[in-house]
Amino acid sequence: MATYDSVPRNVPLLEVRALQRSFYGVRALDGVDLVVEAGTITGLIGPNGAGKTTLFHCVSGLIPPEGGRVLFDGRDVTGWRADRVTQAGLVRTFQIARGFPRLTVLENLLLYGDGQPGESLARAIARPAAVRRREAALTERALAVAQRLNLTRVIDDPASDLSGGQKKLLELGRALMTDPKLILLDEPIAGVNPTLAREIAEHLHALRAEGMTFLIIEHHLDLIARLCRPVIVMAEGRHLAEGAFAEIAGDPRVQEAYMGRRRWAS
Ligand SMILES: Nc1ncnc2c1ncn2[C@@H]1O[C@H](COP(=O)(O)OP(=O)(O)O)[C@@H](O)[C@H]1O
Ligand SMILES: [Mg+2]
Repeated sequence: MATYDSVPRNVPLLEVRALQRSFYGVRALDGVDLVVEAGTITGLIGPNGAGKTTLFHCVSGLIPPEGGRVLFDGRDVTGWRADRVTQAGLVRTFQIARGFPRLTVLENLLLYGDGQPGESLARAIARPAAVRRREAALTERALAVAQRLNLTRVIDDPASDLSGGQKKLLELGRALMTDPKLILLDEPIAGVNPTLAREIAEHLHALRAEGMTFLIIEHHLDLIARLCRPVIVMAEGRHLAEGAFAEIAGDPRVQEAYMGRRRWAS
């Protein structure tokens, strides 16, 4: 993988232009514009109801936008279904970890490898050797991802037995199984104890150093301050401000957007 320093700077990996989406007349996204540059850990913050999660939904293909464009890695992916967007290299995690609680950690990872083996019975019957090779390669990848995220110890445990922080790591692992270029993380340390939160931050840092790009929603502003540059502030379905954390924290427009809604300091 490329090292961080070899990643070209100022290359827009994701470009969101004038994106719009309403729910029952409420404008969740009101023409939001933003860019995520390759090789960054970009933060996305803003008061409750600002439209952050809806932005993730529309960018990742969970729901279609009603206006505007989503450009990713040189392609217009607007309105693409989530599986196709994932194949293009853009994957997201959820605020509440998903996955299959009764399956083991390994099984959960294997389910998210691209072109899962056994998905096509016809192919398995026609080319069993190729399917076995593919299965072996996927298992190897899953083991590497688990090791990478310190999940080897619990690899045969059901996902339901994991701690809150380990579930977040599994969620990140499932994203890594798709071999992405950009990962959208929705509150990666919400409900996680401080020790594991630090560990998750270190993983993100290390992955970035290898060329991964992240866009992160997180209410723990200390994590955003430590990890993210730039930080984008959304309010009322729009891009309000952007810069290093210290810059946006001192911006009166940002303070006003937060006032009376959510405690600014954390
Ligand atoms: N599925 C939905 N149905 C109705 N309203 C929604 C839905 N999802 C989001 N909204 C509304 O859209 C606005 C933005 O919500 P959201 O994207 O969740 O904001 P954030 O993640 O920044 O807190 C809010 O007013 C919210 O109530
Ligand atoms: Mg949200």
